[in-house]
Order: sequence, then C-alpha cells, then structure tokens
Amino acid sequence: MTIGKIIDGKAYAAGLRDTVAEGVAAFTAQAGRKPGLAVVLVGEDPASSVYVRSKGKMTVAVGMESYEFKRPVTIGQDDLLDLIAELNQDDRIDGILVQLPLPSHIDESSVIAAIDPAKDVDGFHVVNAGRLATGQEALVPCTPMGCIMLLKDELGDLSGLEAVVVGRSNIVGKPMAQLLLAESCTVTIAHSRTRDLASIVHRADIVVAAVGRAEMVKGEWIKPGATVIDVGINRVTDTEDGKSRIVGDVATAEALAHVRAITPVPGGVGPMTIAVLLRNTLVAAHARAG
Ligand code: GUN
Repeated sequence: MTIGKIIDGKAYAAGLRDTVAEGVAAFTAQAGRKPGLAVVLVGEDPASSVYVRSKGKMTVAVGMESYEFKRPVTIGQDDLLDLIAELNQDDRIDGILVQLPLPSHIDESSVIAAIDPAKDVDGFHVVNAGRLATGQEALVPCTPMGCIMLLKDELGDLSGLEAVVVGRSNIVGKPMAQLLLAESCTVTIAHSRTRDLASIVHRADIVVAAVGRAEMVKGEWIKPGATVIDVGINRVTDTEDGKSRIVGDVATAEALAHVRAITPVPGGVGPMTIAVLLRNTLVAAHARAG
C-alpha cells in the first residue's frame, strides 16, 4: 500500500515568514518606519489569548511593530467602534485585526464594517470580500490564502481541477471557493446539510475540509491521488484514557492510504494563517505608503 505525502505547513510558513521579514526590512529602510499591526482582543477567551500572544511574537520577529488592545468582555459596542475609528486614523498602523468571536452583545458585522478596508488584513470587510469575488485586487482572508499557497506548492497549476470545499463560512469556505475559482478550478461548496457528501467528496482532485467537525471526512471518501487540505481544529477527548487531543475535519490516518498529499493537524494549515496575516500587513503597508 502506498502512503501519501504529509504536507509540512510548519516549514512552509517559516519560509513565508522569512520572505516577509526581508520585505519588512526593505519597507522600513524605504519608508523610515516599520509596518504596524494592531490586534484587538475583547475578553479573555483562553484560545483567543493564545492566538493573540502568538501573533504578537511573530509580528515582532519579522520586524514589524505590534500593538495590542485588550478590552474587557463588558465593553459596549460604541466604545469598540470608537477604538476602531482611532486605529483607522493612526498612521503607524497598517493592519487592524479584531479577534473573533466577539461577545454576543456585540454585532460582529458592524465591527468588521467599521474597519478601513485598506487596513483590513483579515480580508473580512465586505469591500474586500466583494473585490475577491469580482477578481479585483483585495486583502484576502489568511487561512484560505494559506491553503492556496500549500496547494500550488504541491500541485503547481490548479487549472481545470475538480475542487470540493466542505464548509461555507465567511472566514474560510466562501473565500476558499473564490480563490479556487480564480485558479480556474471547477468548484463545489458542500456543507453540513449536503446530501451524499461522500460521493461529492469522491469526485474531487482537491478537498478542502473546513466544517469544524472532528474527522467527519472519511478516508474512503477520498479519490485515489487527491490532495487534501484539512482546516479543522477540533479538540476531542479519548474515551479510554480521558486525555484530549486536537484532530482535524478529516480522518487523516485512513485518508493517508488514498491521498497524493494531505495536511496534518496540527502542523498543516494552522501555522500558515499567521504567516499570511504578516504578509497581508506588509501588502497593506505598501499600498498605504503608495
Ligand atoms: N478567530 C479565529 N480565526 C480568526 C481569524 O483568522 N481572524 C480573526 N480576526 N479572528 C479569528
């Protein structure tokens, strides 16, 4: 039995951060200032706090300025909108990221809409989503952009390939489908309500799993020789020893016998997200500097 390749997203992300660091040094020499990334964290969700700390460290490691704005979970929507208005006006800041999810009393889409699209390094603003959908220059959501980079590195030209995206979120599924379409793939968006998901996944040369359900995509669904990108990060508890571990949306061990290549969880797509965020911040800095 042949076993597929495991795509080393961690190594690819490290290389991308090195490239960004070179670009940051050149920008800083030319502009006389470092690119700046502001991260806004509301509340103290442990997972979000870990992400934000890690983002801050990597921002500094590539030579950018990192600004963190921590606000209590009780912050009112107007106060949060005022903070964003200040960051929009602040010339030291090229990128603004508001860590999601936000507390339920705050309307996420109003907050995202308040971010200057030129500083929207998450690519969540409707202006950037619309630009991506219409083939214009845009700041593109980090996770799907990272997936495309890994796919092109593995497969080269994606043109004409059959791609199935499982998941329809605004953060991953929808922009992922747009990016695959821009690469001239034939794209299907499947989701939790899709009928006969197995047979739809089975026709794909490229499977991107982003539904947030542990090991939902089974190995036998995968067409022999397909490339699989697993965006899922699900914590599961082992019934036997009670220990918890992180698994993806794909049953990786089973899938390995079918795939050409697959991203592992952890160490696949995860590390790409922050690396692309840094890249987007550099892109935004250049665009703002003219
Ligand atoms: N929460 C989980 N993923 C993301 C992301 O990519 N950006 C933001 N802002 N929040 C997130």
